[in-house]
Amino acid sequence: MTALVHTKADLAKARAALPGRVAVVPTMGALHAGHRANFKRAKEVADSVIVTVFVNPLQFRPNEDLDKYPRTLDADLAICEADGVDLVFAPSVAEMYPDGREGLTTVHAGPDGELLEGASRPGFFTGVLTVVSKLFHLTRPDVAMFGEKDFQQLAMVRRMVRDLDMGIEIVAVPTDREGDGLARSSRNVFLSAAERAAALAIPRAIEAAQASPDPLAAAQKVLAAEPGLDVDYVAVRANDLGEAPDRGPARILIAAKAGTTRLIDNAPVKVGDAR
Ligand code: PAF
Repeated sequence: MTALVHTKADLAKARAALPGRVAVVPTMGALHAGHRANFKRAKEVADSVIVTVFVNPLQFRPNEDLDKYPRTLDADLAICEADGVDLVFAPSVAEMYPDGREGLTTVHAGPDGELLEGASRPGFFTGVLTVVSKLFHLTRPDVAMFGEKDFQQLAMVRRMVRDLDMGIEIVAVPTDREGDGLARSSRNVFLSAAERAAALAIPRAIEAAQASPDPLAAAQKVLAAEPGLDVDYVAVRANDLGEAPDRGPARILIAAKAGTTRLIDNAPVKVGDAR
Protein backbone atom coordinates (compact mmCIF):
# COMPACT_ATOMS: atom_id res chain seq x y z
CA MET A 1 0.00 0.00 0.00
CA THR A 2 1.49 3.34 -1.06
CA ALA A 3 1.11 6.09 1.54
CA LEU A 4 0.50 9.63 0.25
CA VAL A 5 1.64 12.68 2.21
CA HIS A 6 1.45 16.35 1.29
CA THR A 7 3.20 18.08 4.17
CA LYS A 8 6.76 18.07 5.47
CA ALA A 9 5.49 17.10 8.94
CA ASP A 10 3.63 14.04 7.63
CA LEU A 11 6.60 13.14 5.46
CA ALA A 12 8.92 13.22 8.49
CA LYS A 13 6.61 10.82 10.38
CA ALA A 14 6.21 8.44 7.43
CA ARG A 15 9.94 8.55 6.62
CA ALA A 16 10.84 7.62 10.21
CA ALA A 17 8.76 4.44 9.88
CA LEU A 18 10.43 3.25 6.65
CA PRO A 19 12.68 0.25 7.18
CA GLY A 20 16.21 -0.31 5.85
CA ARG A 21 18.00 1.47 3.04
CA VAL A 22 15.82 4.22 1.55
CA ALA A 23 15.77 5.32 -2.09
CA VAL A 24 14.18 8.50 -3.37
CA VAL A 25 13.04 9.11 -6.93
CA PRO A 26 12.40 12.83 -7.46
CA THR A 27 9.81 13.46 -10.21
CA MET A 28 7.51 16.17 -11.48
CA GLY A 29 4.72 13.60 -11.87
CA ALA A 30 2.94 12.72 -15.14
CA LEU A 31 4.60 9.38 -14.57
CA HIS A 32 5.42 7.13 -17.53
CA ALA A 33 7.50 4.03 -18.27
CA GLY A 34 10.70 6.06 -17.95
CA HIS A 35 9.89 6.88 -14.32
CA ARG A 36 8.85 3.28 -13.75
CA ALA A 37 12.32 2.13 -14.80
CA ASN A 38 13.65 4.39 -12.02
CA PHE A 39 11.22 2.88 -9.49
CA LYS A 40 12.22 -0.63 -10.53
CA ARG A 41 15.92 0.19 -10.09
CA ALA A 42 15.17 1.85 -6.74
CA LYS A 43 13.54 -1.34 -5.51
CA GLU A 44 16.63 -3.29 -6.56
CA VAL A 45 19.02 -1.11 -4.59
CA ALA A 46 16.94 -0.20 -1.52
CA ASP A 47 14.47 -1.64 0.96
CA SER A 48 12.06 1.30 0.89
CA VAL A 49 11.18 3.67 -1.95
CA ILE A 50 9.95 7.26 -1.75
CA VAL A 51 8.71 9.05 -4.88
CA THR A 52 8.37 12.81 -4.81
CA VAL A 53 5.85 14.47 -7.14
CA PHE A 54 6.35 18.22 -7.40
CA VAL A 55 6.23 20.53 -10.40
CA ASN A 56 8.94 22.90 -9.24
CA PRO A 57 8.18 26.48 -10.34
CA LEU A 58 11.78 27.48 -9.61
CA GLN A 59 13.06 25.61 -12.67
CA PHE A 60 10.63 27.18 -15.16
CA ARG A 61 11.19 30.56 -16.74
CA PRO A 62 8.19 32.88 -17.20
CA ASN A 63 7.83 31.97 -20.91
CA GLU A 64 8.03 28.21 -20.29
CA ASP A 65 5.32 25.57 -19.79
CA LEU A 66 4.81 25.63 -15.99
CA ASP A 67 1.04 26.15 -16.23
CA LYS A 68 0.46 23.55 -18.89
CA TYR A 69 2.87 20.95 -17.47
CA PRO A 70 0.69 17.82 -16.99
CA ARG A 71 -0.50 17.21 -13.42
CA THR A 72 -1.96 13.73 -12.98
CA LEU A 73 -1.65 12.84 -9.30
CA ASP A 74 -4.38 10.16 -9.22
CA ALA A 75 -2.86 8.29 -12.16
CA ASP A 76 0.62 8.79 -10.69
CA LEU A 77 -0.50 7.23 -7.41
CA ALA A 78 -1.97 4.22 -9.19
CA ILE A 79 1.38 3.68 -10.92
CA CYS A 80 3.28 4.02 -7.64
CA GLU A 81 0.89 1.53 -6.04
CA ALA A 82 1.37 -0.96 -8.90
CA ASP A 83 5.15 -0.55 -8.71
CA GLY A 84 5.36 -1.13 -4.94
CA VAL A 85 6.44 2.40 -4.01
CA ASP A 86 6.15 2.83 -0.24
CA LEU A 87 5.63 6.56 0.07
CA VAL A 88 4.66 9.45 -2.23
CA PHE A 89 5.43 13.01 -1.18
CA ALA A 90 3.35 15.46 -3.22
CA PRO A 91 3.69 18.88 -1.59
CA SER A 92 2.07 22.14 -2.68
CA VAL A 93 4.19 25.09 -3.83
CA ALA A 94 3.36 26.85 -0.53
CA GLU A 95 4.54 23.83 1.44
CA MET A 96 7.87 23.80 -0.41
CA TYR A 97 8.41 27.57 -0.59
CA PRO A 98 6.43 29.02 2.33
CA ASP A 99 8.30 32.34 2.16
CA GLY A 100 7.96 32.64 -1.61
CA ARG A 101 10.82 33.07 -4.02
CA GLU A 102 11.90 36.54 -2.93
CA GLY A 103 15.14 36.27 -0.95
CA LEU A 104 15.16 32.49 -1.18
CA THR A 105 18.45 30.73 -0.37
CA THR A 106 19.37 28.72 -3.45
CA VAL A 107 21.96 26.20 -4.63
CA HIS A 108 23.97 27.33 -7.66
CA ALA A 109 25.63 24.91 -10.03
CA GLY A 110 29.28 25.49 -10.93
CA PRO A 111 30.30 26.64 -14.44
CA ASP A 112 29.05 23.42 -16.10
CA GLY A 113 25.58 24.57 -15.14
CA GLU A 114 25.96 27.46 -17.61
CA LEU A 115 26.39 25.09 -20.60
CA LEU A 116 23.75 23.53 -22.84
CA GLU A 117 20.47 23.51 -20.84
CA GLY A 118 21.88 26.16 -18.55
CA ALA A 119 22.69 28.44 -21.50
CA SER A 120 19.25 27.94 -23.08
CA ARG A 121 17.35 28.12 -19.80
CA PRO A 122 19.18 30.54 -17.48
CA GLY A 123 18.52 29.71 -13.84
CA PHE A 124 17.30 26.21 -14.66
CA PHE A 125 19.96 24.38 -12.68
CA THR A 126 19.62 26.71 -9.71
CA GLY A 127 15.95 25.73 -9.67
CA VAL A 128 16.72 22.03 -10.03
CA LEU A 129 19.55 21.87 -7.50
CA THR A 130 17.65 23.94 -4.95
CA VAL A 131 14.60 21.69 -5.05
CA VAL A 132 16.62 18.45 -5.22
CA SER A 133 18.63 19.60 -2.24
CA LYS A 134 15.43 20.38 -0.29
CA LEU A 135 13.93 17.02 -1.29
CA PHE A 136 17.09 15.25 -0.13
CA HIS A 137 16.94 17.01 3.24
CA LEU A 138 13.26 16.19 3.61
CA THR A 139 13.40 12.55 2.54
CA ARG A 140 16.88 11.73 3.94
CA PRO A 141 17.62 9.01 1.35
CA ASP A 142 20.59 6.66 1.21
CA VAL A 143 20.34 6.54 -2.56
CA ALA A 144 18.60 8.59 -5.27
CA MET A 145 17.70 7.66 -8.84
CA PHE A 146 18.05 10.03 -11.81
CA GLY A 147 17.39 9.26 -15.47
CA GLU A 148 20.20 9.54 -18.03
CA LYS A 149 17.72 11.27 -20.31
CA ASP A 150 18.48 14.45 -18.33
CA PHE A 151 22.21 13.82 -18.64
CA GLN A 152 23.37 17.28 -17.60
CA GLN A 153 20.96 17.30 -14.66
CA LEU A 154 22.39 13.96 -13.55
CA ALA A 155 25.93 15.38 -13.77
CA MET A 156 24.94 18.54 -11.88
CA VAL A 157 23.25 16.54 -9.10
CA ARG A 158 26.26 14.23 -8.77
CA ARG A 159 28.54 17.25 -8.52
CA MET A 160 26.30 18.94 -5.93
CA VAL A 161 26.26 15.80 -3.79
CA ARG A 162 30.06 15.60 -3.97
CA ASP A 163 30.75 19.31 -3.47
CA LEU A 164 28.30 19.71 -0.60
CA ASP A 165 29.17 16.38 1.07
CA MET A 166 25.61 15.14 1.01
CA GLY A 167 26.63 11.50 1.32
CA ILE A 168 23.87 10.21 -0.97
CA GLU A 169 24.56 7.60 -3.65
CA ILE A 170 23.32 8.71 -7.07
CA VAL A 171 22.23 5.94 -9.43
CA ALA A 172 21.83 6.67 -13.15
CA VAL A 173 19.00 4.90 -14.97
CA PRO A 174 19.31 4.44 -18.76
CA THR A 175 16.87 6.34 -21.00
CA ASP A 176 13.66 4.51 -21.76
CA ARG A 177 12.45 4.91 -25.36
CA GLU A 178 9.07 4.57 -27.01
CA GLY A 179 8.66 2.00 -29.81
CA ASP A 180 9.60 4.59 -32.46
CA GLY A 181 12.80 5.55 -30.62
CA LEU A 182 11.63 8.84 -29.06
CA ALA A 183 12.99 9.22 -25.53
CA ARG A 184 10.15 9.03 -23.03
CA SER A 185 9.16 12.38 -21.61
CA SER A 186 6.10 13.75 -19.85
CA ARG A 187 6.08 16.40 -22.59
CA ASN A 188 5.62 13.86 -25.45
CA VAL A 189 1.84 14.03 -24.87
CA PHE A 190 1.87 17.57 -26.27
CA LEU A 191 3.15 16.47 -29.70
CA SER A 192 0.75 16.43 -32.65
CA ALA A 193 1.23 13.61 -35.17
CA ALA A 194 3.22 15.91 -37.48
CA GLU A 195 5.36 17.23 -34.60
CA ARG A 196 6.03 13.71 -33.42
CA ALA A 197 7.15 12.70 -36.92
CA ALA A 198 9.54 15.67 -36.92
CA ALA A 199 10.74 14.82 -33.39
CA LEU A 200 11.87 11.41 -34.59
CA ALA A 201 14.76 13.14 -36.34
CA ILE A 202 16.32 13.36 -32.84
CA PRO A 203 16.74 9.59 -32.29
CA ARG A 204 17.69 9.29 -35.97
CA ALA A 205 20.41 11.91 -35.46
CA ILE A 206 21.67 10.00 -32.43
CA GLU A 207 21.78 6.77 -34.39
CA ALA A 208 23.74 8.49 -37.17
CA ALA A 209 26.12 10.01 -34.61
CA GLN A 210 26.76 6.62 -33.04
CA ALA A 211 27.64 5.15 -36.43
CA SER A 212 30.03 7.95 -37.42
CA PRO A 213 33.62 8.86 -36.49
CA ASP A 214 32.40 12.49 -36.61
CA PRO A 215 29.28 12.24 -34.42
CA LEU A 216 28.57 15.97 -34.36
CA ALA A 217 28.58 16.40 -38.14
CA ALA A 218 26.51 13.24 -38.62
CA ALA A 219 23.84 14.40 -36.15
CA GLN A 220 23.80 17.95 -37.54
CA LYS A 221 23.19 16.59 -41.05
CA VAL A 222 20.15 14.56 -39.97
CA LEU A 223 18.70 17.42 -37.92
CA ALA A 224 19.23 19.96 -40.70
CA ALA A 225 17.18 17.77 -43.04
CA GLU A 226 14.10 18.00 -40.78
CA PRO A 227 12.33 21.35 -41.30
CA GLY A 228 9.76 20.59 -38.58
CA LEU A 229 12.40 20.78 -35.87
CA ASP A 230 13.83 23.95 -34.37
CA VAL A 231 17.24 22.84 -33.04
CA ASP A 232 18.35 24.62 -29.89
CA TYR A 233 21.71 22.86 -29.55
CA VAL A 234 23.52 19.77 -30.69
CA ALA A 235 26.83 19.22 -28.96
CA VAL A 236 29.39 16.54 -28.30
CA ARG A 237 30.95 16.77 -24.86
CA ALA A 238 33.14 14.58 -22.69
CA ASN A 239 31.20 12.30 -20.36
CA ASP A 240 31.91 14.70 -17.50
CA LEU A 241 30.59 17.54 -19.75
CA GLY A 242 34.09 18.94 -20.34
CA GLU A 243 35.44 19.61 -23.88
CA ALA A 244 34.92 16.65 -26.21
CA PRO A 245 38.01 14.47 -26.65
CA ASP A 246 39.72 14.33 -30.09
CA ARG A 247 39.24 10.60 -29.96
CA GLY A 248 37.35 8.21 -27.70
CA PRO A 249 34.10 7.97 -25.73
CA ALA A 250 31.94 11.08 -25.44
CA ARG A 251 28.29 12.09 -25.25
CA ILE A 252 26.08 13.69 -27.86
CA LEU A 253 23.41 15.99 -26.43
CA ILE A 254 20.51 17.46 -28.40
CA ALA A 255 17.73 19.91 -27.57
CA ALA A 256 15.11 20.90 -30.11
CA LYS A 257 11.57 22.16 -30.33
CA ALA A 258 8.83 20.40 -32.29
CA GLY A 259 6.06 22.99 -32.41
CA THR A 260 6.08 24.49 -28.93
CA THR A 261 7.32 21.33 -27.22
CA ARG A 262 10.96 21.32 -26.20
CA LEU A 263 12.62 17.90 -26.24
CA ILE A 264 16.06 16.78 -25.08
CA ASP A 265 17.97 13.59 -25.69
CA ASN A 266 21.53 12.27 -25.44
CA ALA A 267 23.55 9.11 -25.93
CA PRO A 268 27.10 7.78 -25.81
CA VAL A 269 29.22 8.20 -28.98
CA LYS A 270 32.79 7.54 -29.95
CA VAL A 271 34.76 10.40 -31.50
CA GLY A 272 37.18 9.41 -34.27
CA ASP A 273 35.98 5.87 -34.31
CA ALA A 274 32.69 4.44 -35.60
CA ARG A 275 31.07 1.86 -33.32
O1 PAF B 1 13.86 15.67 -13.78
C1 PAF B 1 12.88 16.15 -13.16
O2 PAF B 1 11.75 15.67 -13.24
C2 PAF B 1 13.10 17.38 -12.28
O3 PAF B 1 14.06 18.22 -12.82
C3 PAF B 1 13.41 17.03 -10.81
C4 PAF B 1 14.73 16.29 -10.69
C5 PAF B 1 12.29 16.21 -10.23
C6 PAF B 1 13.54 18.32 -10.00
O4 PAF B 1 12.36 19.06 -10.03
